[in-house]
Amino acid sequence: MSLIESARAVRENAHAPYSNFKVGAALKAASGAVYVGCNVENVAYPEGTCAEAGAIAAMVAGGDTTITEMAVIADSPKPVSPCGGCRQKIAEFAQGDVVVTLTTLDGLTLETTVAALLPGSFDADYMVRS
Ligand code: THU
Repeated sequence: MSLIESARAVRENAHAPYSNFKVGAALKAASGAVYVGCNVENVAYPEGTCAEAGAIAAMVAGGDTTITEMAVIADSPKPVSPCGGCRQKIAEFAQGDVVVTLTTLDGLTLETTVAALLPGSFDADYMVRS
């Protein structure tokens, strides 16, 4: 199964009764394992979590820490765009050249990279004083 197909499948499990906007994410880790996540909303709205965050949490729980490829899917008019917080979360575990495929249920696809999604990202280098 491709990453997009995995993201499409897990999207069905999203818990999104408040926005009615289901999102699925799938990523491949350096080990070759594929991890998936969906958005999980909460009646206390700020407690909801994004699909990308779920996939990343599953990856770390599974013992992987390096993303080599990622896909996100939603029923949107144009390829779904990860929120700012998720861009930072992805950047924590992926090199800038890692390809992120954004898609709609209808198959509209945008291939981008982690660096393009989060230019000028804050990383650990900023915390080192020479
Ligand atoms: N959402 C995601 O899970 N990922 C995205 O890339 C965009 C937004 C979720 C958060 C919330 O549950 C719903 O979509 C509407 O914002």
